[in-house]
Amino acid sequence: MKAANPLKLFGTLLIVSMIFIFSCTKTRTITETITEIVNDTIIETVTDTLTLHLDPALVAEGKEIFRYDTFGDEAFWSDILHIDKAILGDALDGYGDGVSPATALAVGLKVDAEAIPLEVAAAIQAGEVDLNDPATTIALLKMNAVVGVTGTFNEEGNMTAVGINCALCHSSVDNSFADGIGRRLDGYPNRDLNVGAIINLTDNKKFLADLLHVDEPTVEAVLTGWGAGKFNAGLMVDGIALKPDGSIAANLLPAAYGLQGVNLATYTGWGDIVYWNAFVANLEMHGQGSFTDSRLNDAAQFPIAAENNFGNITNDPDLITPKLPGLQAYQLSLHAPTPPEGSYDMAAATRGKTLFNGSALCATCHIAPMYTDAGYNLHSAEEIGIDDFEAKRSPTGMYRTTPLRGLFARMKGGFYHDGRFATLNDVINHYDNHFGLELNAQDKIDLEEYLKSI
Ligand code: HEC
Ligand code: HEC
Repeated sequence: MKAANPLKLFGTLLIVSMIFIFSCTKTRTITETITEIVNDTIIETVTDTLTLHLDPALVAEGKEIFRYDTFGDEAFWSDILHIDKAILGDALDGYGDGVSPATALAVGLKVDAEAIPLEVAAAIQAGEVDLNDPATTIALLKMNAVVGVTGTFNEEGNMTAVGINCALCHSSVDNSFADGIGRRLDGYPNRDLNVGAIINLTDNKKFLADLLHVDEPTVEAVLTGWGAGKFNAGLMVDGIALKPDGSIAANLLPAAYGLQGVNLATYTGWGDIVYWNAFVANLEMHGQGSFTDSRLNDAAQFPIAAENNFGNITNDPDLITPKLPGLQAYQLSLHAPTPPEGSYDMAAATRGKTLFNGSALCATCHIAPMYTDAGYNLHSAEEIGIDDFEAKRSPTGMYRTTPLRGLFARMKGGFYHDGRFATLNDVINHYDNHFGLELNAQDKIDLEEYLKSI
């Protein structure tokens, strides 16, 4: 028999690899393997590069929407909850003490240093600006410098309303100017933000009490109980405020970066990014848009949504739907941040990677480069060894494998949807027990260092 022509074989291989690259480009993932020989040892590095073909104009539009658009939600935050009047305070024709910059920073609001004119920044640094005066907060709002909060001003320069933006919960700052004041970091969850304390500023708890069929002290207690960096997104649709053990239910604000290639979004996989953006803009921020989800018509699972027809919202004009493509493009442009050099032990992380991809079984669900499952990325509570309380609140009844990229930038507040594990070591111990992995102390350290490196 004649041996195969080596040249012909080479040609075939070349074609095969070209098809491979072509088909991978279509799914927007290119995987390269770099093989190096160092001191007679073969070192293989696999780099996963996500190449997203995003339209720069659409991304830029989405960035503006993510940072500054209120979708007309002033109708809720100001017309109903009167948060604008709470910020102004008595002295400025609102009610209560008002919200000074010191108070705002204490409840985790962030200030965009780049929006502050240089002379104002200099005055702040010289201690010439009164950070205990609500009028200063109003001035910052006029400069559009309070991350995630947009004020409306009349011709006399008085603030007549406020609304909130996506950036309120999903952006932070780099503290380059002072604690809580710096350059924006879009996509970073604001784990300092006390959303409950902010809503609690309302003098109209009756509205929320009536909506949820509870009394006003209950509303206040629940909002107080969320704490920093948490929010109960399901409350508005199912009215469930407490866990079965009577403690207050709330989930950690998640990252809005590193979601490239991720199928279902949210801790319990309600839908994809676009679905969830429409959900949150309409039902959580209370913007004026359109939203359809027949699953919310199920009065047994979603009594509040069914009663208020939240699964069938229309508004004219629709201030949300036309913005969904831009919002999606912007979120897809937000790559997870790279861990700073020296923030983890490289040698331990390299060993941890081998464990993660091998005997520790992590990569059976957290698959690179997304670190969530490719495909239907949900698992039952039983599979991951926790209770099903939060899973059952979602139409899916499952938990979504959290994409782990940029984990180092969201360490505050704990891990898993409700922050039940205080440290990464607790997470690893949980998996060790649940899957019977028999990890030794060094394995656990190595896995943790790897998690800090991705
Ligand atoms: C009041 C705080 C808050 C605001 C405002 C907010 N979100 Fe969220 N967001 C959350 C919370 C909490 C979750 C997690 C929900 C869950 O799974 O329980 C979430 C989940 C998400 C997710 C899913 C992340 C993942 O890991 O899958 C995306 C994407 C997202 N939000 C984008 C947005 C966009 C875009 C806006 C503006 C239209 C917005 N959010 C406004 C609090 C907020
Ligand atoms: C069966 C699938 C599965 C396996 C195997 C698995 N995970 Fe997870 N992982 C999940 C799911 C689902 C969640 C979300 C749980 C939640 O939010 O309640 C999660 C969450 C996490 C989180 C928390 C992320 C955050 O931001 O809160 C970390 C860290 C993590 N996993 C690491 C690991 C490590 C390390 C391993 C291997 C030892 C592993 N996982 C194995 C499915 C899995």
